[in-house]
Amino acid sequence: MADTLTITDNRTGKQYNLPITDGTIKATDLRQIKVDDEDGGLSTYDPAFMNTSACRSRITFIDGDKGILEYRGYPIEQLAEHSNYLETAYLILFGELPTAAQLTTWITEITFHTMLHENIKKLMEGFQYDAHPMGVFLSTVGAFSTFYPDAKQIFDEKSRKKQIHRLIAKVPTIAAYAYRHSIGRPYNYPDNDLSFTGNFLNMLFRMTELKYHANPVLERALAVLFILHADHEQNCSTSAMRGIGSSHVDPYSAMAGAAAALYGPLHGGANEAVLRMLNEIGSVQHIPDFIKRVKAGEGRLMGFGHRVYKSYDPRAKIIKKTADEVFEVTGKNPLLEIALELERIALQDEYFVTRKLYPNVDFYSGLIYQAMGFPVEMFPVLFAIPRTSGWIAQWEEMILDPEQKIARPKQVYIGAARRDYVPLTSRS
Ligand code: ACO
Repeated sequence: MADTLTITDNRTGKQYNLPITDGTIKATDLRQIKVDDEDGGLSTYDPAFMNTSACRSRITFIDGDKGILEYRGYPIEQLAEHSNYLETAYLILFGELPTAAQLTTWITEITFHTMLHENIKKLMEGFQYDAHPMGVFLSTVGAFSTFYPDAKQIFDEKSRKKQIHRLIAKVPTIAAYAYRHSIGRPYNYPDNDLSFTGNFLNMLFRMTELKYHANPVLERALAVLFILHADHEQNCSTSAMRGIGSSHVDPYSAMAGAAAALYGPLHGGANEAVLRMLNEIGSVQHIPDFIKRVKAGEGRLMGFGHRVYKSYDPRAKIIKKTADEVFEVTGKNPLLEIALELERIALQDEYFVTRKLYPNVDFYSGLIYQAMGFPVEMFPVLFAIPRTSGWIAQWEEMILDPEQKIARPKQVYIGAARRDYVPLTSRS
């Protein structure tokens, strides 16, 4: 017998059997539960989507209680150890690890698209000298839709593939230009002899030398960070990507919205907020006082807690190891001592233990980025580059899913009842 949920409506005494599929009931099945014909039917009230699945997805699996993260079935730990960013992006987008020939073609296709149109450069030059690079990033991604109007053909597979190549290839170039703009230095063109992360570091940091050679440890560390950030199923920015994309707008416009969602301090802006918090704490002696204030509700311990992970974020574990490797090259980040002590104290404190608050991916990533020479404003941009592969994989899955429609949640109206317009002169 198929799994069902039996509901008795106390208002009418009627019983309903709702099928259970994949651990869910269909919200629309609740509509049949009504008091009378006037009634629109029962619905669920779920602010912030705390317990609602909005899609069926084959891309990323998370078990938040066990601390498991897998892309297309492959554990994040194995990908971080053996893969590189472009291979992982291929896996996320196309569902399988590429063969050697597929990987070569994929790398060539991405490399071919790394340059930006010169007018995009001009557009970026128009921003204020102190513009936040994430604001520049998301505006530029949105502007892409005007440069590539063919992207509107979202049901044409060839067109979609082209936008995928463009987006994966061009986001590091936009990010690097945004950074160079913020420090008033000339933009560096891509060097297509280099790896994905090697070229990114070249565009960021090359000065007058003819060829830039990144430190291989830092180039690899950045690749690991990119792998860890590539996708994370239905998070805030991915939901934005799917939600906006469900109106059938082009992927650049949808991704500008996703990047905007990522910018917020509760999401991709958290690593920036962690660094600011560590600086504000200033020294290990101030930690107990800081924790006291957090527990009194006067602020949050940034980089702690997660909607899904109720144990140690598996990405945070890998990042901690990567941090040690990076600090071997760059020297220790002086804020590390504060971060380690904060973590030690929080993991023993009843407030954090009972709420299952553990370090998330952002707790240590900022320390690595800072040690590598990135200013804090670049942190959300460094998150957006790899997340591009997740966003567009999720967008394409949504576009091709026959069960999807334009996203449109319901509301529970609690405002004024119908009333008549009052002319201005009669208002008291
Ligand atoms: N510091 C202190 N208390 C916290 C924290 C925190 N970082 N996070 C959650 N809590 C507390 C809440 O106050 C709440 O306590 P209460 O039950 O007494 O009211 C309880 O833990 C549950 O918190 P919620 O806000 O309901 O949890 P939610 O799932 O909505 O939020 C979030 C998750 C936004 C990540 C939250 O933990 C947070 O704000 N963390 C800090 C910001 C951060 O690090 N964000 C990065 C997330 S990872 C990413 O986006 C890549």
